[in-house]
Amino acid sequence: MEMLKRPRRLRGNEKIRSMVRETRISKDSLIYPMFVDANIEGKVEIEAMPGQFRYSLPALPGKLKELSAAGIRKVMFFGLPKEKDEKGSGAYDENGIVQQALRLAKKEVPELYYITDVCMCEYTSHGHCGVLKGQDVDNDPTLEYLARTALSHVQAGADMVAPSDMMDGRVLAIRNTLDANGYEDIPIMSYAVKYASSFYGPFREAADSAPHFGDRKSYQMDVHNIREGIKEALSDVEEGADIIMVKPAMSFLDVVTKVRDAVNVPVAAYSVSGEYAMVKAAAAKGWIDEERIVGEMAVSAFRAGASVYLTYYAPEIAKLIDEGKIG
Ligand code: PBG
Repeated sequence: MEMLKRPRRLRGNEKIRSMVRETRISKDSLIYPMFVDANIEGKVEIEAMPGQFRYSLPALPGKLKELSAAGIRKVMFFGLPKEKDEKGSGAYDENGIVQQALRLAKKEVPELYYITDVCMCEYTSHGHCGVLKGQDVDNDPTLEYLARTALSHVQAGADMVAPSDMMDGRVLAIRNTLDANGYEDIPIMSYAVKYASSFYGPFREAADSAPHFGDRKSYQMDVHNIREGIKEALSDVEEGADIIMVKPAMSFLDVVTKVRDAVNVPVAAYSVSGEYAMVKAAAAKGWIDEERIVGEMAVSAFRAGASVYLTYYAPEIAKLIDEGKIG
């Protein structure tokens, strides 16, 4: 047989493999999510996310400096407030936990880029992502609270805001409020295509944000749908979103690819708490090679079309890139 095509020619050694690589990864594209907690001292490990912690304000700068030294330049804050109430007032309190964390972080570790998750579920006594009417989140009144939250983050020093609530019209509401206050230059990364996923389980322990009744299916997306994701992405771009996020990542890479083809803004993929927890648990059993799995997960998010990757494994991925194992 005459065999002209031999794909193995381009796989023979590391020199040629690294030359023809189709996906390149940079530490610049990684975002590390973090939890700041007003109720603890020092730091407390999250049970279902070994190696991830909630940080008190005093413990925060040390961790940020460590990340910076490892080449992680972007972080995203979630807050656990002292008190919760019906209207999630800790979310937009100028002395709220995220606002204090931002002021401290900007002062102590100014070289990092600070993004905040804008949502109400960590701050409401009922654990839903907005204010309620009966048993359901009341969309339009919630927009004002979200916009106030985003504004208070930016006033405290946030470089970018990331609304994760899935209310209709919130990107526009936030954009208008930021602009009216002179913050036209602050970008919005919208959790535009956010599924009602079981992969968020460990996060709800980490952020103490599980809904006390019902679920989030009346606002987060049905996992069966992809065309609806395109609709969400397109309308958020129309409303002024600068980056569109797809979440979770690993089981939703088809969505990343489709959304990337549909919009002309950068697409971010969020590898969520449950993805982290699964890898950690299997690795602890010795059933998988954690380092290589983490590398594959990162590479596949970028290969699918993401330009930005949010992950609790950001420091490990940075190391893999430094060592030339991926990227
Ligand atoms: C807040 C929010 C959640 C996550 C990010 N922002 C939880 C949820 O929607 O229930 C999940 C992140 C993760 O699981 O790592 N709405």
